[in-house]
Amino acid sequence: MSMETGIHYFLQETGNQTIGRPREAATFLDEAKTQEVIRFHRSIHGYKPAPLHFLKHLAERLGVRAIFIKDESYRFGLNAFKVLGATYAIGRHLSARLGISVEEASFELLRSAEAKQKLGAVTFVTATDGNHGRAVAWEAQQLGQKAVVFLPKGSAEQRVEAIRQTGAEAHVTDGNYDEAVRLSRKMAEENGWQVVQDTAWEGYTDIPRWIMQGYTTMAREALEQLEESGEPVPTHVFLQAGVGSMAAAVHGYLQSCLGDRRPATIIVEPHTANCLYQSAQIGDGAPHTVDGDLETIMAGLACGEPNPIAWEILRDHAAAFVSCPDWVAATGMRMLAAPPGDDPRIISGESGAVGLGLLAEIMRSGELSALREHLGLGKDSVILLFSTEGNTDAKQYEDVVWGGKYPLVPDPSCASRQL
Ligand SMILES: Cc1ncc(COP(=O)(O)O)c(C=O)c1O
Repeated sequence: MSMETGIHYFLQETGNQTIGRPREAATFLDEAKTQEVIRFHRSIHGYKPAPLHFLKHLAERLGVRAIFIKDESYRFGLNAFKVLGATYAIGRHLSARLGISVEEASFELLRSAEAKQKLGAVTFVTATDGNHGRAVAWEAQQLGQKAVVFLPKGSAEQRVEAIRQTGAEAHVTDGNYDEAVRLSRKMAEENGWQVVQDTAWEGYTDIPRWIMQGYTTMAREALEQLEESGEPVPTHVFLQAGVGSMAAAVHGYLQSCLGDRRPATIIVEPHTANCLYQSAQIGDGAPHTVDGDLETIMAGLACGEPNPIAWEILRDHAAAFVSCPDWVAATGMRMLAAPPGDDPRIISGESGAVGLGLLAEIMRSGELSALREHLGLGKDSVILLFSTEGNTDAKQYEDVVWGGKYPLVPDPSCASRQL
């Protein structure tokens, strides 16, 4: 559906009392697996749950009961959630090489002199819009191993530098993200390196599954934090997607834990890289690709090829797929940077803030009332959001938040929009 705001959405059929279909999402994302993942993450020096903030005044202003946002900029000091996936996947991979089970694996063991002697020199290779590559590079550094990282053209200097600072090689390529993924595969084959990619393809599924399992830690933490806050079960969760691994992991875990009480999941993508939205709309059940430059300020979401494992989960269970112009992310960044009342200020980057930007627009735009009603968003709604990164491109962050870049779209048909 096309909107004057430039926001497009595709609604899934309604299932039971919550929205989405009632079938199991994926057993590899269940509670028992997540407990194992959390145990491994706790073994990493510096592990702390990322804070979950309650935005009381913003919820009042937008007309919902509660808004909770998980601030992943605190994750191991790396300014993004991605390290949860990279650490667990590399941990599993090296454990297998050492012939030990995941229960026996710990971060300390993997970085011990004994493990290093058995493993020899390992080089990990990956493609990234920034955050995943930094996470792989950090993990390699921690374990005394090597990393090579390929980035798409136009990558922000700060993101490239953050990778190089870990001692990894970082190369900015001439192509887009999906081409960088293919290059990293080719380099791995030619050099005997190990690919650690956050998306799957035929014959390459273990590592992307482990990466998805790694992301469930943030959903588990969020449920524990919600329980403490007295609002244990969110009604809606907004999940931003690149290849869809994060969204499918969080959704799959919530569905396996909460069953019929699970929230409605809304998938949010940038227009120029809206491969999940396009796949849902085409509706033949298969994942579809978007190509071109994938130009968007939401660099972490600039992926044109869905992860097929993630796609199957989202195809069957998400309530809606929404495709957004860049100003929606910019609106979310500004709202979190200058919150109403005594709500906490949150530094949220372009790919972290788009969920809030969309929620705000849905709640205040007359044009999106059909979406609001279909999703049942209103005064009883408890919203869960994940700010998946901080200011990973500090210049762009300031251009948006201070400089007013990407202003709210002028929308004359929306006389009812208020804040
Ligand atoms: C900050 C941020 N948020 C969300 C995502 C989306 O994750 P996925 O590619 O698993 O959909 C990414 C991916 O790089 C990211 O960097």
